[in-house]
Amino acid sequence: MDTKHGVKKDVVVEGLKQARERTRFLLERISEEDLVTQHDPIMSPLIWDFGHIGNYEELWLLNKARGKRLSDRELYDMYDPSLHTREERPSLNLLDWASANRYLDGVREAVLATLEETDFDGDNPLLKDGFVYNMIVQHECQHNETMLQTLQLVKGDGYKPVSCVELPAGKTLEEEMILIPEGSFVMGTDDRARALDNERGEHVVDLPDFFIDKTPVTNQAFAEFVEDGGYERSEFWYPSGWEYIKEEGITTPKHWYRDEPDGWRTQRFGFEESLNPNAPVVHVSWYEADAYARWAGKRLPTEAEWEKAASWNPDTDTKRLYPWGDEAPTPQKANLDQLAFRAADVGAYPEGASAYGVLGMIGGVWEWAATDLYAYPGFEAFPYKEYSEIFFGPDYKVLRGGSWATRPPAVRNTFRNWDFPIRRQLFCGFRCTRDS
Ligand SMILES: [Fe+2]
Repeated sequence: MDTKHGVKKDVVVEGLKQARERTRFLLERISEEDLVTQHDPIMSPLIWDFGHIGNYEELWLLNKARGKRLSDRELYDMYDPSLHTREERPSLNLLDWASANRYLDGVREAVLATLEETDFDGDNPLLKDGFVYNMIVQHECQHNETMLQTLQLVKGDGYKPVSCVELPAGKTLEEEMILIPEGSFVMGTDDRARALDNERGEHVVDLPDFFIDKTPVTNQAFAEFVEDGGYERSEFWYPSGWEYIKEEGITTPKHWYRDEPDGWRTQRFGFEESLNPNAPVVHVSWYEADAYARWAGKRLPTEAEWEKAASWNPDTDTKRLYPWGDEAPTPQKANLDQLAFRAADVGAYPEGASAYGVLGMIGGVWEWAATDLYAYPGFEAFPYKEYSEIFFGPDYKVLRGGSWATRPPAVRNTFRNWDFPIRRQLFCGFRCTRDS
């Protein structure tokens, strides 16, 4: 089953199978009504995500890669995110749960039937080294995280996960910053098997000394900002962020509330619970992260600073795929893969430290960077410009690192996520930097 460049077809099949098992695990216990409801204006109905996962697989693994087609134009259009805004999606004639299941199974069967004769060693850049199969697994994993964002927004009794993986406890850590000495490092990647277009190409970036927080900012630290009037003091805020929080009446991170005499509490899926002081703050916008950083006399890291602290090994002058090295994530190294349904205490994964000793850079929470989303030098849109290119510009801020809700095939040191600076539905937090 192996090919010349080492693509193992049984590994490809297993990756596709595991992604689908997780999609169904997340959706199976949800009522048909909750599947078709739009739980928040910025999210799609879950049943749209489900049909779209199947159609994206048909589009890329059957149509574009192999010239085959199962569905008509109407179905392709319905699940094309660039043709319908999220507001429009609930009113489309979407496949229901039973029909969508049959559709996804049909696509998968046809995909597996073509896999035997797929040539991973030829010149087709989609197939070469398994790129398009990795892209499809990554896409389904990304939608699994999006579905969890939607489930966090379900109103009323909320979504209650059936069982949750236990997490290691972290020690209460003093806030500590780590010096990243000046010098150049290699940013981005030339990998064409797993990396997506916006992660390419490799380029050398020279940075002066800087300090970076050893761990992400905790709930306790953020509560001090809130209690110090952080949301009432315009001097910490970008003018557009200040305007936004005043218009929307935002005075805390999303899902926080105050319950005297118990203090800060939060709604996590269908659970109301005390805020864990040692966990990273989550569901804060870029504006809130940026305001906190100014209040603390610090700033958000640039994307380059984040990537150097996560990926560079100064002893060998080489780059690591993950903060701890090139070995795939394990439950000892990072809180990834969703089944804990929450972030662990900061500092709970000493084995996941980067070469500089920075903790929790992958897993836990996505981390806002100071940087707008732009192309790296030598960027080429591949395989389609709607993946990244249409988002380049000053409207989107970059997030790095992945959260507890990110599945391992969807994350690495070079992976770039992005959203508007007002967004808080992601499992997003941050850490700070300062000049030395
Ligand atoms: Fe998608």
